[in-house]
Amino acid sequence: MPLILETIVTTTSPDGDLHLVPFGLIQDGADWVLAPFRPSPTILNLEANPVFAASSPSDIRVIAGAVTGRRDWGTVPCDRISGRRLADSFGHAEFEVTAVEPDETRPRYRGRMVHSAAHMPFFGYNRAQAAVLEAAILSTRLHMLPPEKILTEMRYHAIAIIKTAGPAEREAWDWIEDKVATALGRSDRILDEPAAAQ
Ligand SMILES: Cc1cc2nc3c(=O)[nH]c(=O)nc-3n(C[C@H](O)[C@H](O)[C@H](O)COP(=O)(O)O)c2cc1C
Repeated sequence: MPLILETIVTTTSPDGDLHLVPFGLIQDGADWVLAPFRPSPTILNLEANPVFAASSPSDIRVIAGAVTGRRDWGTVPCDRISGRRLADSFGHAEFEVTAVEPDETRPRYRGRMVHSAAHMPFFGYNRAQAAVLEAAILSTRLHMLPPEKILTEMRYHAIAIIKTAGPAEREAWDWIEDKVATALGRSDRILDEPAAAQ
């Protein structure tokens, strides 16, 4: 399996509207592949404007927010491509699409990196941020996965939230918990379960 980096991808619609969503970028030699499932505004944007930026948010709420209807995060213009990228990020890269592998379910857009830059120091991994990332991905697969698998995995990730979250990570987790609870028709929260403290 290739290396995949989880990023915030920004694309621009034909009308000039910004579209900001999390995507895994798949490493392929010197290139990075973006593979959105249809239907997808990102696909429509790439067909019209075949460039994209990928940013590593310093605040995990950007990823949790983007999959829970909170997409109004600060952006700034890109350096080499026409478009915008996330403002508060450890770093970002800009890509031109050099090839498209058509597919009815999940086309692949090959991105050639034309620019990259670091914006702030990174000096430590955080388990709660990783847990939010995993929970955010789970929350985009609620229609594909059995509820028990979702809850089992969320219960495991909740341990890292209890032990290592700051206020931002906790808020991000709550957004995901609310989405999952609504989808599964639950009124209680995993973080409130006694087992979550283990
Ligand atoms: C960390 C993370 C990585 C994701 N990676 C992908 C991906 O590679 N492909 C995809 O179709 N959706 C992925 N998703 C789900 C999309 O963010 C979500 O479905 C979004 O609405 C897709 O944007 P679109 O509607 O423009 O296609 C990911 C979600 C998260 C939280």
